[in-house]
Amino acid sequence: LTSVPDKPPSTRSRGEKPPPEPPLPIAPLAPDDYEEVAKLWKACEGLSRIETRDEYERFISRNPELSLKAVSPDGKLAAGIMVGYDGRRGYMYHLGVAPEFRRRGVASQMVKRSLELLRTLGMRRCTIFLFSDNNLAKKFWAAMGFRPRPELRSMSFELIEDEPS
Ligand SMILES: CC(C)(COP(=O)(O)OP(=O)(O)OC[C@H]1O[C@@H](n2cnc3c(N)ncnc32)[C@H](O)[C@@H]1OP(=O)(O)O)[C@@H](O)C(=O)NCCC(=O)NCCS
Repeated sequence: LTSVPDKPPSTRSRGEKPPPEPPLPIAPLAPDDYEEVAKLWKACEGLSRIETRDEYERFISRNPELSLKAVSPDGKLAAGIMVGYDGRRGYMYHLGVAPEFRRRGVASQMVKRSLELLRTLGMRRCTIFLFSDNNLAKKFWAAMGFRPRPELRSMSFELIEDEPS
């Protein structure tokens, strides 16, 4: 008769979820983050054209402290979002989380912080734009409490004709 060695006692019972990952620290996006954040955004599916460095810096300086990044434990940029307001409404652009940091609440954490900042500035509403085939983003924004606006249609005018969209 061979004896089966006892398994070490498990700290988790079967079927129990692993403990949640700790949240990543969040900080304002700085002009110097351009290279890293533009690389992350360009690697994300479903985002529109990424600004040039000049355009990015202009946006950050017109909307100071509102655009945010999340930083990984080894100091790399794990997520970024551009947030601005025009005095009437708040807007968010280019929300992107690096694939290895997804589904652990990083984007929700950043969006909640951004909404709080926009509320502090007196904004009553925040609008986002998304491609109509971006089903993942639809689920995310709905989970954050954003509602679709089927009564609206976006139209734009090209001020610089050769600008890629
Ligand atoms: C969309 C995106 C920003 C979400 O980032 P994230 O950090 O993974 O999101 P969170 O972990 O905060 O998710 C919050 C909630 O959104 C929903 N959600 C997020 N990702 C989802 C997915 N892949 N499938 C279904 N629901 C999802 C869930 O309700 C989730 O809550 P839960 O995990 O408790 O179920 C990320 O997937 C991404 O960068 N996608 C590519 C770029 C993009 O499409 N950006 C949006 C442009 S408008």
